[in-house]
Amino acid sequence: MKSEIHNIAAPLVRWYRQHERAFPWREDPSPYRVWVSEIMLQQTRIEAALPYFERFVQTLPTVHDLANASEDVLLKLWEGLGYYSRVRNLQKAAKIVVAEYGGELPDTYEKLLTLPGIGEYTAGAIASIAFGKSAAAVDGNVLRVFARLTDDPTDVMQPKNRKRLSELVCSLVPQDDPGAFNQGIMELGETVCLPNTQPRCHECPLAAYCAVCGTPRARELPLRTPPKPRKTEKKTVFLVVTDDTPPRILLHRREDGGLLGGMWEFPSGETVTEFTDAEILSTKKLPPAKHVFSHIEWHMSGQLVKVKSFTPKEAYCLLTKDEFISFALPTAFRKYRELLFEEDVL
Ligand code: ADE
Repeated sequence: MKSEIHNIAAPLVRWYRQHERAFPWREDPSPYRVWVSEIMLQQTRIEAALPYFERFVQTLPTVHDLANASEDVLLKLWEGLGYYSRVRNLQKAAKIVVAEYGGELPDTYEKLLTLPGIGEYTAGAIASIAFGKSAAAVDGNVLRVFARLTDDPTDVMQPKNRKRLSELVCSLVPQDDPGAFNQGIMELGETVCLPNTQPRCHECPLAAYCAVCGTPRARELPLRTPPKPRKTEKKTVFLVVTDDTPPRILLHRREDGGLLGGMWEFPSGETVTEFTDAEILSTKKLPPAKHVFSHIEWHMSGQLVKVKSFTPKEAYCLLTKDEFISFALPTAFRKYRELLFEEDVL
């Protein structure tokens, strides 16, 4: 006979207190730090996020600093993390927090939810971890743990199933130390109740409460509807370098919204004449590169084109090497950035 799931809070919190890993946002869980960490961790693994987190809060230690940061600085701090709308929304929200809340994040789930980039998960995480409010923080990790605890046979990422499990989690969050409860489930999902493998059920503090503990079924859950295959897009990326002294490289600002909205990139198209009518001095074919986003793959070929100096059109700019290095360039273009430096043309 399994123990009653409504009693998991005490053993979970006890286990968490013994096993919590030391992360910088746990050592000093100020609302600002918890907020930044939760936004970073939304699509980024903890180990990958750690150095970014440290640099971010050192460079921008307060909500005011974030609100006042220039776009260049902000994007450079996020360079390589991807999903750049996260950091744009972070700043939009910081400006609202300064204008409407005197620079202090609001301390309720409902008010947090009104801020850009803060959804149900993040509002629940900040309210519980930073303010000790009883709110749930349900992400994919937490859904996996509860799909297993309850032997849920549905695709828990589908909205109606997600909602049902979220309601269960909400009903279990204690008044006392809700932050430890929520982080306890996250920690369990990250270190014990692991995805895509047999979970470490013998180490689980909730084994007595779990419907599938120690069985092959534990590994099979949560059930998933297979994702749609990704689209592929072919494109030619142009590294256009001028004969200025020092030479300059042409970049293009993507339209706002959508994939990499508002980010600077190497221009791409059919021919170089789409972005400049400058006299072409030489062209060289560069090796192909591929970048996989969540919903699309770019299959790129590259051209290095040396041209006479010219005045760029709107949405384009020419940068010297030093300026280029200080700009944030999406990871999708990393290979061509490396090739540009290897070619030693800038
Ligand atoms: N993943 C997202 N937020 C987390 C947190 N606060 N602790 C552990 N894992 C997390």
